[in-house]
Amino acid sequence: MFNQRKVGIIGAGHVGSHCALSLILQGVCDEIVFVDIDKNKAQSQALDCMDTVAFLPHRAKIKRGEIKDLREMDIIVISVGTIDNISKNRLSELEGSLNMIKSFIPDIMKTGFKGYFVVITNPVDIVTYFVQKLSGLPHNHVIGTGTGLDSARLRRTLSTKLNIDAKSIQAYMLGEHGDSQMGVFSQTTINGIELNKFLEKTKLNIDLDEVENIVTKAGWEIYSGKKSTEFGIACVCTEIIRAIYSDEKKVMACSGYLQGHYGNYGVYTGVPVIIGKHGVENILELELNEKEKDKFNKTIEIIKKHIEIGSEILDETTCINF
Ligand code: 2OP
Repeated sequence: MFNQRKVGIIGAGHVGSHCALSLILQGVCDEIVFVDIDKNKAQSQALDCMDTVAFLPHRAKIKRGEIKDLREMDIIVISVGTIDNISKNRLSELEGSLNMIKSFIPDIMKTGFKGYFVVITNPVDIVTYFVQKLSGLPHNHVIGTGTGLDSARLRRTLSTKLNIDAKSIQAYMLGEHGDSQMGVFSQTTINGIELNKFLEKTKLNIDLDEVENIVTKAGWEIYSGKKSTEFGIACVCTEIIRAIYSDEKKVMACSGYLQGHYGNYGVYTGVPVIIGKHGVENILELELNEKEKDKFNKTIEIIKKHIEIGSEILDETTCINF
């Protein structure tokens, strides 16, 4: 009997349901279990997904489940929460998000789960840090989507301005998946050609500060019209999960754990990482110029400050039942 690839999704809202759809449409897993405090919603999302099965590249099973069913999952996606506050700041979601993860991570670990967590819940870098703390899993098994989405938005924005396909642009946003994120334009290339040289040759005039600002505000721009963002993040989640299952050694931006990388220790943040069957197998260090180093250190400071706030919240709160 061949192994079935099983993914659990906690949080069956806009984001969780689109992650499920993206995973099955791309044939990345064989089984999905939705867990949500709203059991009817989880059931409906599962049934709606099952309606696509006749059109999928291969058969998949999608169902509603309980925390105890997550024991046999390879990977659990955490997409709980609300983005009602995105207009203000993702950091303002910290307390609510920590209360939620505290209510189910210990119970998941009691089942004997030993797989991977892919964390989407905002503020994702800080929530990822606490998912690792609460689960006790190795750091490489706990992966935040981080600036994976922002890096895709950067490539999308540059693609429009340069009239070059986004897949031919290598560009990263680093740091917090939030207002302090930063673009690494000194290391941006168009299939190996440095961005500056490309701009010189093509005589295009692009304001890179404006590009960085567009990318940083992109989540809010989307949210303002539809009150959610879901398609892009579902693709980021799918890329991570496919890279683990296929042992791809894929380089992409995610929230990885810094252990001396970029001169920083003990924080999860958005950086280019290599993803394979062991999760985050390595972190790539881009050569930042002085201005970029300064911005990177500032974004790390914001994450560290909120890890301290998060520790206080977790110490003070009592667990709610999920
Ligand atoms: C996004 O940037 C809301 O964090 C989410 O789309």
